[in-house]
Amino acid sequence: MNVLGIESSCDETGVALYSDARGLLAHRLYSQVRLHAEFGGVVPELASRDHIRKTLPLIHQVLADAGLGLGDLDGIAYTAGPGLVGALMVGASIARSLAWSLAIPAVAVHHMEGHLLAPLLESEAPDFPFIALLVSGGHTQLVAVAGVGQYRMLGDTLDDAAGEAFDKTAKLLGLGYPGGPELARLAAAGDPARFHFPRPMIDRPGLEFSFSGLKTFALNTLQEVAEDQRDAQFKADVARAFEDAVVDTLAIKCRRALKQEACTDLVLAGGVSANQRLRQRMAEECAKMSARAWYPRLEFCTDNGAMIAFAGCLRLKAGESAGTSFGVTPRWPMEQLAACG
Ligand code: KG4
Ligand code: ZN
Repeated sequence: MNVLGIESSCDETGVALYSDARGLLAHRLYSQVRLHAEFGGVVPELASRDHIRKTLPLIHQVLADAGLGLGDLDGIAYTAGPGLVGALMVGASIARSLAWSLAIPAVAVHHMEGHLLAPLLESEAPDFPFIALLVSGGHTQLVAVAGVGQYRMLGDTLDDAAGEAFDKTAKLLGLGYPGGPELARLAAAGDPARFHFPRPMIDRPGLEFSFSGLKTFALNTLQEVAEDQRDAQFKADVARAFEDAVVDTLAIKCRRALKQEACTDLVLAGGVSANQRLRQRMAEECAKMSARAWYPRLEFCTDNGAMIAFAGCLRLKAGESAGTSFGVTPRWPMEQLAACG
């Protein structure tokens, strides 16, 4: 079964082809970063318009990359939520119209399920059950995963998501959008001993997160020095203290979740799982517990079409498909998904 996957939930147009027999056949990504950079964040209307410009050319490109034609497609998967409604509508309408014209099924994919299953695209992948830490721009969730579509929420953020905290703190540091990778780059030159930021909510039992206080802590620390006196080392030290606090907090909660669920496999996914310090720390923590950390390859941590083609293929193979009338679901709790297969 050859499945075309289309991701358009935010500021990246991702298109990929996945075959259940041959694996990932082709994938392409167009990032809108330059389009939104001058505004310091994503402008939804501009995002929708750019998805309209880019999606069809990318579909032609991945088909050409794989040496396939439209007639070789057996199904089409598209991100139906969560995300920006206009951006989602572009992918959904292209996917559904194409599927209808080819008389093949289309399936609506949950963006976070795409992230969660992305590590299974690798040749060495975890078996179910596992614990997933989903850390993206909009989500910070710990999920007990019994199988595809069998998700039990263990913990969520009470305020900002981890990626959102990275982006907001990066802005305070005068860095460009998207801030997470830039802040991580700056933190690499930082002195970890200069500042100590709090680790939010680790003294309480449970697996909830809260990251908005860290951004305020960063602001207060920055304000101790007049703006024109802040040198590169000072900013790098603040970035490092912030990153260490986020990584440490996530590591503590993951350890707690693995213990609570008596589980030995931890999957990290979503944009923040591209963070090298987080990846390294989780691998070390898991090794101490005789557990194992799994992550997608770097390019599949952030938004991409491969994860949507893959999740869609699993659901299409299980017989799932959507009717001909369609909508998108900008807010969509993952626990509402049907178990698959
Ligand atoms: O999964 P993703 O591409 O989009 C959403 O579904 O939100 O995640 C984007 C988020 C952004 O907040 C971005 O700053 C963050 O992931 N991010 C990082 C890194 N790379 C991306 N945060 C920290 N370190 C990174 N290396
Ligand atoms: Zn995402």
